[in-house]
Amino acid sequence: MTDMDRDELFRAVSSAIAAAPNAASAMTQTVRLLKDGVPAYTWVGIYVLDGNDLVLGPFLGKPSPHTRIPLGRGICGAAATEKATIVVDDVNADPRYLACSVDTQSEIVVPIMQDGEVYGEIDIDSDRAAAFGPGDRALLEPIAALLAERLAEGG
Ligand code: SME
Repeated sequence: MTDMDRDELFRAVSSAIAAAPNAASAMTQTVRLLKDGVPAYTWVGIYVLDGNDLVLGPFLGKPSPHTRIPLGRGICGAAATEKATIVVDDVNADPRYLACSVDTQSEIVVPIMQDGEVYGEIDIDSDRAAAFGPGDRALLEPIAALLAERLAEGG
């Protein structure tokens, strides 16, 4: 994906989040735009923090068996606990990995947080190995920040 495409995609997601009537709608539209916008994004979902669990919200791709992930488990749990983006180039080589699909090769998890508080995370799987690079981080971290603003509003 070219940088121009990424800029356009960021603008589209940013506008959708700003115009959404509530946080749930903002998350659903974000998932749709990211899934449609980047061919390498095989599975796109958002988990929302509920107590000590990450609960699966909107997603596109194959249904995941992991609809509720305790903070101590998986790459998802690690990203929320460490409050940092995690990129895994080869999920089969990462002992933390919780499998969603046998086709998944790589994953990026981006915490949705504001002022050190984690509200959830964007989780994206790819059927391509090492599909995620600095450009994906640069696209997804600002989107996560915009979603955090909506989730922090509480509605
Ligand atoms: N792979 C994640 C679990 C979520 S599924 O990929 C949708 C993890 O290891 O936490």
